[in-house]
Amino acid sequence: MSFSLSETTYSTDTPEAKRAMYEDLRAQLGGLVHGERDWIANTANASSLVFNTMPGLNWAGFYFMQGPDELVLGPFQGKPACIRIRKGRGVCGSTVDKRATSVVEDVHAFPGHIACDAASRSELVVPIFGKDGEVIGVFDLDSPLPGRFDAVDAEGIESLVRILEQSRA
Ligand code: SME
Repeated sequence: MSFSLSETTYSTDTPEAKRAMYEDLRAQLGGLVHGERDWIANTANASSLVFNTMPGLNWAGFYFMQGPDELVLGPFQGKPACIRIRKGRGVCGSTVDKRATSVVEDVHAFPGHIACDAASRSELVVPIFGKDGEVIGVFDLDSPLPGRFDAVDAEGIESLVRILEQSRA
């Protein structure tokens, strides 16, 4: 396998610029997971790709369901993070409950937000679905910038999660 991380510096100033970045990210993630089904390897590479490509992040990584009620830390980039999050707790646990993406513009205004890195100001959490439609985990992005994520980012990261889900098939 040959792969080189894009040296492009991406702009997030316009929806079009963001969409172009996500198109590149999809192509690169597709290349990284091609022919590989190991879930830890693929999610580890996905966290590195996203963390090293997207501007304005201080954390990017995964939590996976362990049993019916708990998320446990998976591959990530950034500072060490909380290991276990109960379903329904924090942004990650509430994303599992509602089975839909969470975009939090100001984590200080989110009741129950779990502060792993005090620098985090905004957050995007996307649920990951298994083959039977069950939530198997979340992809969590944190930013030190308030309001860093919008609907274009939600759609873009969801499209990356779909590629990861298919890599398990
Ligand atoms: N802030 C998250 C916890 C995970 S860390 O951000 C890495 C939450 O409230 O669920």
